[in-house]
Amino acid sequence: MEAHSSIFGNYSTIHGPKTPCYALKFASFSSSKQVLLRTHLSFPSNIAITEKRLRIRASVEEVHSEIVGPNVLEDSVRAKVRRKNLAVFVSGGGSNFKSLHEATVNGFIHGDIFVLVTNKPDCGGAHFARDKGIPVIFFPKVKDDSGLSSKDLVNAIRSYKVDFILLAGYLKLIPTELIRAFPRSILNIHPSLLPAFGGKGYYSMKVHKAVIASGARYSGPTIHYVDEEYDRGRILAQRIVPVLPNDTAEELAARVLHEEHKLYKEVVAALCEERIIWREDGVPLIQCKENLSLYK
Ligand code: GRF
Repeated sequence: MEAHSSIFGNYSTIHGPKTPCYALKFASFSSSKQVLLRTHLSFPSNIAITEKRLRIRASVEEVHSEIVGPNVLEDSVRAKVRRKNLAVFVSGGGSNFKSLHEATVNGFIHGDIFVLVTNKPDCGGAHFARDKGIPVIFFPKVKDDSGLSSKDLVNAIRSYKVDFILLAGYLKLIPTELIRAFPRSILNIHPSLLPAFGGKGYYSMKVHKAVIASGARYSGPTIHYVDEEYDRGRILAQRIVPVLPNDTAEELAARVLHEEHKLYKEVVAALCEERIIWREDGVPLIQCKENLSLYK
C-alpha cells in the first residue's frame, strides 16, 4: 500500500485493481477521530443494517475496519446477492443504454434491464430495446394522449419489480411521484464534473461548449442520485477527462462519452452487488470489490 498526498487530502491506493480504491478521505479529520458509517447489506430475503466503525488516523496503515474485512464479496457471495431488475430511461441514441445492456448480458453487471422508458419512441435507444425484446414505455403523456401519466409510470415500473432506475440521456424532468416511490434508487449520468456545468439548460453539446469556453482544463462524467432538481442529487462517482487546448465540443464529448460507458458499468455493477454505503452526512460511497473496507 502506498500513501499519496493530493488536493483531495491523503488517501491510500491498493495496487492491483485497475481503478484505485481509496481509504476514506481524511484531510479534515483529526487524528484518531472515529467515523460511523451505516452499510446496508441485503441478501435474498432480508435487509440487515449493520453499523461499521472506521477509525480514521493520520497514516494510511492505521485505517481499520472493525467489522467488515477484506475480500468479503467473493464471487460465491455475489451468487447469493439477488440479481437486480433495472429500468433505463433514454431520449436519444442510447449508447450508454447499449453499453449497460451488454454488461448485463456478459455478466459484468449482476442485473437485467426489464424495461426502457422514453419520451421519444423513435429514438435509437427505443429501437435497440425493441430489437432486444425489452418492453418500451412512453412517458410523459403528450397532447394526443399517448404516453403514461406519472402515476401510471410508477405502477408500470413497479409491475416489473424494478430495483433501480438508470437515467441515460433522458431529457425530461423525473416526476416527484417516481422519486418518492424509488428513494435512493435512481441514478443519472451527466457529462461534466458536477456541480460545475449542471442544472437546467446544461445538456448535450451545451455542456461541452460551456466547459471549453470557461477554460476548464478537466471535465468528465458524474454519476449522481436523482432528486427533484436537475443535476443536484448526491454525487456517487466521477471520472476525470482532460480538456485539450484545441478541443471542439464534439471531440470533448466523444472523450467524455468513452469514459461514461466505463464508469456507468462499474457503478451499476456496484449497485447491483450492494456495494453502495451511505456516509453519516448522506454522501454515498462505493465499496471496492477487492476490499470492502476501501472506497471509491
Ligand atoms: C450522455 O452524454 C449523458 O451523459 C447525458 O446524455 C448523453 C446520452 O448519450 N446525460 P447516449 O444517448 O447514451 O449516447
